[in-house]
Order: sequence, then C-alpha cells, then structure tokens
Amino acid sequence: MKAMWAGRFSKELSKELNDFNSSIPFDARMYRQDIEGSLAHAAMLAATGILSAAEGEAICSGLESILHDLDSGALRPDPSAEDIHMFVEAELTKRIGDAGKRLHTARSRNDQVALDLRLYLSAAIDETRALLIELLRVLLDQAETYASAILPGYTHLQRAQPVTFGHHLMAYAQMFTRDLDRLADCKKRMSVSPLGSCALAGTTFPIDRQMTAAALGFDGACGNSLDGVSDRDFVLELASCLAVLMMHLSRFSEEIVLWCSWEFRFVELDDAYATGSSIMPQKKNPDVAELVRGKTGRAYGNLMSLLTVMKGLPLAYNKDMQEDKEPIFDSVDTVRQCLTIFTPMLATMRVRTDRMRQAASAGFINATDCADYLTGKGLPFRTAYQITGALVARCIQEGTTLEALPLSVYREFSPCFDEDVYQAIDLDACVEKRRSYGGTAPASVQKQIASLRAQLGIAAGASEAKEVLA
Ligand code: ARG
Repeated sequence: MKAMWAGRFSKELSKELNDFNSSIPFDARMYRQDIEGSLAHAAMLAATGILSAAEGEAICSGLESILHDLDSGALRPDPSAEDIHMFVEAELTKRIGDAGKRLHTARSRNDQVALDLRLYLSAAIDETRALLIELLRVLLDQAETYASAILPGYTHLQRAQPVTFGHHLMAYAQMFTRDLDRLADCKKRMSVSPLGSCALAGTTFPIDRQMTAAALGFDGACGNSLDGVSDRDFVLELASCLAVLMMHLSRFSEEIVLWCSWEFRFVELDDAYATGSSIMPQKKNPDVAELVRGKTGRAYGNLMSLLTVMKGLPLAYNKDMQEDKEPIFDSVDTVRQCLTIFTPMLATMRVRTDRMRQAASAGFINATDCADYLTGKGLPFRTAYQITGALVARCIQEGTTLEALPLSVYREFSPCFDEDVYQAIDLDACVEKRRSYGGTAPASVQKQIASLRAQLGIAAGASEAKEVLA
C-alpha cells in the first residue's frame, strides 16, 4: 500500500498501520464540507493567479462531479483511504489528471480538517437549534393549555407549594431557550476561517484568506496560523453546550418517568411513545424518557474525552487531534436523536389534571398561605409560621386537612383566624395570588408565555399539542 506522502519512505505501509491511522470511517461524513472548502480554495488560487484560470476551472468541475457522485451514491469513500481529504484529492486527480495535483498548493490537511470540522459543526448547530425551536413550540402551547392546572410543586421531592403545570413547563422552556442562545453564541465563535493557516506557519504564496472566508460564509479569518490549526475550542464549546442541553432533557425525562408511575399518574404517554414488558402484561414503560436520561452519559463522557485529548498538546497540529471527531459527532447525533423523539412524545402526552389536583389537595401545600394569612393579620411571620406548624401537627394527629378544620379549632391556636382563612388557603387562590414577576399565577404564566413567544418569534398554537383532559 502506497501513501500519498510516501516520498521519503522506503517501506510500504502495513494494513495494520493504515487502519490504525485512518480516520475515513468517521470523517467521511464531512465530504460535503471538504469539497466546499476545496472549491473555495481553488477559486481563490485562480483569482490570485497562483493557478491558471483553466486549472481552477478543471479542479472545480472535477470537485463538483465528485460531490454529485458522492451525493447520489455512485461514488463511495474508499475505506482504505487515510482520510476524507486524501480520498477526495486522489479521486480528483483520477478524474482530471495533473491539474488535480495542484489543488493542495498553499494548503495543508491541518487547516483543511480544521475548516471542514467548523463547517460541519456550524451546520449541526443550525439543525440542533431548529429541533430545539420545535420543542419550544410544543412546550409553549402545552404551557398555555395548562396555565391554570394545579399540581404540587416539590422541593426535596416533598410536596411544597401548589404550582400550575403551565408554570412547571415554562421552567423547562427557559432552560431550552438558554440552550438555544448558548448554541448561537458558540456558532459565532466558530465562524472564523482557519483556511490558509496551511501546515502551521502560513504560506509563501500570495493567498487571499479573506476571500475564502467570505466565500464559505465565515465572519472572518483567524488571526494566527498556529492557532488556526491547533484550536479545538469550538469543539469543546459545542460539546459543553450539548452536555448542558442533555442535562436539561434528562431532568425533564426523570420527571416524566416519575409522573408516569402508578404512584403519580400525572401523565400517560401515547402508545406510540411507550413500550411493554415481555413478561408483565400490565406494564407500559416510559423507555423514551429513560433512554434520553441514559444517553446523557454519552454527552458528558464525550465532553470529558475531548478535554482530555486536548490537555497538554503542544502547538501546533498533533495526530491526537484526529480523536476529536468521534466524540463530538456522537454528541451531535445523540442530541438529534433525543430531540427528534422527545418532542412528539411531549406533544402527544395525556395530562391527568384530575390526578395533579388530587395530589395537590393533600400534603398541606397551602401551609405557607396559612402563615401568610396570619402575617397579613399583623402577626410576625415567624410567629405565624409556628402557629401554622402546630395546626398542621394537629391535622396529622386527627387525620384531617387545613381545609376541613373547623374555625373553632383554628381559634384555639390564634384569635386572628376568621372565616376568610378558608378563602386564603383555597388552592386556586393560593396560585392566583402568586402574581409576583415570574410567579406561578395563571396570569403570570400567560405573561411568561407571551414574552418568550415574542422573544423567539413563535406564534401561538403552532404545534400539534392539544388539550387531552382525563
Ligand atoms: N485525518 C486527520 C485528522 O483528522 C487530518 C489531518 C492530518 N494532518 C496530518 N498532518 N497528518 O486530524
């Protein structure tokens, strides 16, 4: 086997070394970006007179035909090639002859691979953001439908205070909006062209780096050629954004798993997004949510791998950096897969508002409101808190609730209690009153929905989410 760089080598390359060294099994997916980069490079070489116009044209039409054939499947990447860059170049020379050998003038695979990866991951960011917007669309519609559906809010997984389901969903909408912003921000820093950094030091040829950067849609060209070929911050940054996004999805998934349990039964997944057991006929399992939760480990692991690969690498390019692709591609693929299934699962989920309400009616989640009531009557909050605690203890002892306790008993604890205490601890009133900015009152939830819709440019009722009441 003879490599393209075999000039100074006297021995043939063994199959074992070739396989070990080769990245084509995983970098072939960047063929489009590789060819687009080469097209821009060849056009620049011709425009600056480094190549003749005829050579430039021959190279470009050869590259176009390779792209066409790879797209159609007529041409397949050669698995024995060293990488996608070598494969395309060899194929070009096969097709157009000697002119093909001039494409690599004033370029190295070091700037080529850095370029391809930036182009590929920029497109992946656009795709991920589009999927996130779909998820947000569904969340906003669901939040509107359930803006006043009451369920217990939890801290320490103990019933704490009543909240609305719309409010709960909007908390996730805020997280996913930050993910959206983080990805846009990451793309901004990724939008710098390394092409023309060459192997590491730039080139003696009169290239025009701004021209190739503009042709490829970058905001500009990187200012230091050593950095241009060595920098993988953009990979790390994206891996980190995706890890955070998966963390959000996994928290949501965990809640869905809990809500599907017989103990909660707050939601029921559509049959299309649940699975059964091979032995227990009664089972309907939330596998999708569990897998999303489980796959979060990949995104974390990939981030850790990438950080470790880059740690301590001297400038400039080192072959270690070939190990950047599989982890980041896996994170991109994992997030795509998860969002693609999570969104319709959410859109078709049956929400049991009756079960939520029932759970909210027990557990003294209106105790804070009772204390607030006494505070409103002039008692210091700490005193009101102690009186309410004693009342709750009494209720537990008698197996009753704050709502069912007669006024005479209330008065045993404080003369400040009056008939209006029942209104104060009414569940609907409890959420209704939490109108503080960002609070859980239905009116506040509607405001949150409107403002996020305006921020994201998402129209109301845009998703397929429908109200499915129990
Ligand atoms: N396949 C290589 C990679 O993915 C391309 C760059 C190779 N450069 C080199 N000097 N060997 O990193």
